[in-house]
Amino acid sequence: MCGIVGAVGLISPKEYVFKGLKMLDYRGYDSAGVAYFNSGIKIYKDVGSVEHLLTIVPEEIKTNIMIGHTRWATHGSPTKLNTHPHISFNQRICLVHNGVIENYVELKKFLLGKNYSFYGETDSEVVANLLEYYYLEYGDIIETIKKVMSEIKGSYAITFFTDDIKDTLYVLKNASPLVVGLGKGFNLVASDASPMIEYTNEFIELEDKEFGYITNDKVAIFNKAGKPIDKQAIHKDVELISHDLKGYPHYMLKEIEEIPQTVNRLINTYFQKGKYQFDKNLLKDLEESDHIIFIACGTSYHAGLVGGRYLEKYNKSTSRFIASEWAFHPTYPGAKPFIIMISQSGETADLIHCLKIVKEHNLKNLIITNTGGSTLDRNCMYSLLLHSGVEVSVASTKAYVAQVTLLAMLAGALGNDKQVVEDLRNCLDVVHGIQDHYKPLIMKVAEEIKDKKSVFFLGRSFDYFLSLEASLKLKEISYIHSEAIPGGELKHGPIALIEKGIPVIVFITDPDTASSMRGNIEEVKTRGAKVYTIATKSLYRSEDTMMVEDYAYYLSSVAIASIAFYLAYYVALAKGLNVDKPRNLAKSVTVE
Ligand code: F6R
Repeated sequence: MCGIVGAVGLISPKEYVFKGLKMLDYRGYDSAGVAYFNSGIKIYKDVGSVEHLLTIVPEEIKTNIMIGHTRWATHGSPTKLNTHPHISFNQRICLVHNGVIENYVELKKFLLGKNYSFYGETDSEVVANLLEYYYLEYGDIIETIKKVMSEIKGSYAITFFTDDIKDTLYVLKNASPLVVGLGKGFNLVASDASPMIEYTNEFIELEDKEFGYITNDKVAIFNKAGKPIDKQAIHKDVELISHDLKGYPHYMLKEIEEIPQTVNRLINTYFQKGKYQFDKNLLKDLEESDHIIFIACGTSYHAGLVGGRYLEKYNKSTSRFIASEWAFHPTYPGAKPFIIMISQSGETADLIHCLKIVKEHNLKNLIITNTGGSTLDRNCMYSLLLHSGVEVSVASTKAYVAQVTLLAMLAGALGNDKQVVEDLRNCLDVVHGIQDHYKPLIMKVAEEIKDKKSVFFLGRSFDYFLSLEASLKLKEISYIHSEAIPGGELKHGPIALIEKGIPVIVFITDPDTASSMRGNIEEVKTRGAKVYTIATKSLYRSEDTMMVEDYAYYLSSVAIASIAFYLAYYVALAKGLNVDKPRNLAKSVTVE
């Protein structure tokens, strides 16, 4: 959940490391730090932002090696001492680490028994000391890394340097991403490719249990047995991993406004010359399966709820699970189950746990992800990429719409139904209409609800699934308590919470349930709720708040999700909150 950067041999490693840290601070923003070599190991770190860190490092730094880290605290509170980089007891090893070392308590005990002492509470400091302990014993850094990797359990992406080999960064990885960027006269490392694209678009992605080193003109990677391996460099599309704000004040706003281009790109990728473009084996496996299980977390789970319904439309039997629930009580009914996992980041620990179980049971599986090269992309049997461009804002927006779009197309391909593509294209007009005309109105609603303690969203069927996402988005970034309720459930309990002035946001886009939803509106209005209704043109009434153009009602999460996203965005903005980096959250949740 944290971010790592490192550079060797650049004219200005400081420039790369700080630019990189700024790009990665969406992954973790409790604290940040850097370390470099200049007549000894120098470390600067503190609680707070990368901007703050910049104010405490020297203006001029002369070095050809530097590492940096942005932290999202897991082991040890967000204090200066727990901030990375960490240095070993005898000042020989300096490292940054992402992930969680599960057996760090035992390792710490071992080191305490060897007269080591610790300044902080982190598992990462234990690894720095373990590296030093074996380095002092073996005198050989490659043997040391092999030994340490055989002892540490858990997830790690680590880069470190020693006090005596001043031109080399070491890298090791398991279950947490680490990418090497190849340059001319320099080499880079980072927890994802994005901070490096200004310098290179050639990358090497480390696999689990691989390790190696980089100097200014050499990259050497070894497998876990310590045998050198020849890794193929991959080329990445600069545009899709760019973090450029393109003039927008926040990534979230930029990403909401990228929704039409995201949907368009998916249509053009997966539907060409009048035909769906999916792997034939994937379609065959899906066709032959007798039950499809969707597994995901958070927003991606909400997309899975929609996707399940899409497949049911074409007579597939489905169930949907939250990953952390399925992981401990896995069920897979039918003789030929097929697992569909959904993950924007492709690195979510709960899902990686599920994939382990899926593999143990030899279940066919697919990952739908926005992150090519991620752990789930590499390890699932099939992978469909969302091609949405990097999503920086912690609150997922365009990736959610992309997930639903792709699921609609996949279902369309299975049902041989090309109308889906037409329906998706029609959604684009609706999205543009919202972008062009409704932002001032949504801002007004945001002003009205920003000081409320609680907000309710009501919908049925696909509008209920959208309500779940709308509610999650609002609570994530505005910290207002909110709930989504299926219209029909209102009377079965939640109506007890409706009182004078409470905002209730209602989606009415499904002709079959519109009149029942009107009934729900009456029920909450009678109890004093302030109702805001979003309705499609053919179901619209003059008292409603917003009228959107008609679209195929099953595509609510594509056509009108941006209303929910803008609302959350403008409420957070009106409250003066940090929209892109909400408290306590991280962009990729790499711990269970
Ligand atoms: C909410 C949000 C999260 C993620 C969840 C799963 O805006 O982004 O709920 O959807 O943490 O993450 P991924 O999709 O990366 O597996």
